[in-house]
Amino acid sequence: MKQMLITGPNTLSGTIHIGGAKNSVVALLPATILAKGQSTIKNVPHISDVDALIDILELLNCKVSLNKDELTVDTTNLKNVPIGSNYANRLRASYYFMGALLGREKQVEITIPGGCNIGSRPIDIHIDGFKALGAVITKKNDKYIIKADKLIGTDIYLKFQSVGATINIMLASIYASGVTTIHNAAEEIEIVNVADFLNKMGAKIEGAGTNTITIRGVKDLQGTQISVIPDRIEAGTYVILGALCGKNLCIKNIIPKHIEALTNKLLEMGANLTINKDSIVISKAPLKPINIKTLVYPGFPTDIGQPMSVLLTQASGTSLFEETIWENRMGHVPSLNKMGANIKARDMHAIINGPTPLTGCEVIATDLRGGAALVLAGLIATGTTVITDIEHILRGYEDIIGKLTSVGAKIELKEI
Ligand code: EPU
Repeated sequence: MKQMLITGPNTLSGTIHIGGAKNSVVALLPATILAKGQSTIKNVPHISDVDALIDILELLNCKVSLNKDELTVDTTNLKNVPIGSNYANRLRASYYFMGALLGREKQVEITIPGGCNIGSRPIDIHIDGFKALGAVITKKNDKYIIKADKLIGTDIYLKFQSVGATINIMLASIYASGVTTIHNAAEEIEIVNVADFLNKMGAKIEGAGTNTITIRGVKDLQGTQISVIPDRIEAGTYVILGALCGKNLCIKNIIPKHIEALTNKLLEMGANLTINKDSIVISKAPLKPINIKTLVYPGFPTDIGQPMSVLLTQASGTSLFEETIWENRMGHVPSLNKMGANIKARDMHAIINGPTPLTGCEVIATDLRGGAALVLAGLIATGTTVITDIEHILRGYEDIIGKLTSVGAKIELKEI
């Protein structure tokens, strides 16, 4: 077990370089198996979710090699073996092997995926999509067996703009005969990254990034190369950190357009930031309270909501926060209140009164982004903050200790 120890308060200066997007790479890796041959993914972040996916690819007899941030997968000798709970449970995105294996092999056997405890996280929209393409699904306890004699393109209407279901249906329909149209598709930029990868392999996908995606079935795909887009959630987390305790803190290697929903809110609060072509420079400034409601892309991202709540504890006045995607994304609130925040959370709403000075103490990371929120809080708190259960944080933030230490943070990992 690992803990994080933070001594504060900190003032941070210098440059943080953002890595590849977790929520892109976790789909790009399973997508490699759709081409029979070798693909290379560049700008791969070193996070434990990637390690878990490499283990699944190796279980499937793919040859994987990682050289710095470049990962090569050779799927030539793929063996379609069942993916058991010890593999699938380690992360949410193991569900992309459903679509990818169904697409290539017309059959997959996989245990339900794991992931953060931020809601009930059903996968009914994915399953309905596979069924619409012609697959037959059998569920035995926590195992899915998904089979199809033939996959046939069709019109699929998603009842919610699910990121995972949109990508999974795209993966499953690549080799389907005819045309598949996904209506009410999610519009996240990570989906565009995956569609670009598949199109470079030879797929015929149009409309990724809009709410209508069409996939014309193809007969064959060739291995190719793709670069993972910058992680907008990692970027957003550190931009918020700059607003909390930055002194010309530069967040680099980003696409500012991808976090416009955040920067617009920060400007509304009176934050001191300069937006450049591929970076944002930000310093601490007095902040006004605001109201925030999380939405699907391009709205305010749910994954930045928890870090943002820390900033709202430092604004002068009352802010209202509403989460609309996940029913259990307030797990960090008891810890923030223990540190001195004044947050009243109920169901998916929170009222945050600020500014409140924060004091270091022992807190628990209940999930990935909630854990990141506690790191931000620890960096501005007076005294020592000890964060337990930090494995959640390491799933999605590459070298968080190294990146923060390089800009002056007093933060360390401790094995217990
Ligand atoms: N939903 C259903 N049925 C489904 C699928 C989703 O009811 O079959 C519901 C969910 O319960 C949720 C909503 O639809 O209320 C949105 O779920 P979505 O499918 O869009 O989420 P996801 O694909 O499972 C991805 C990210 C999440 C991010 C969401 C929303 C990955 C691996 N995860 O999850 O990232 O919050 O999209 O943007 O890409 C994170 O990085 O911390 C994280 C949780």
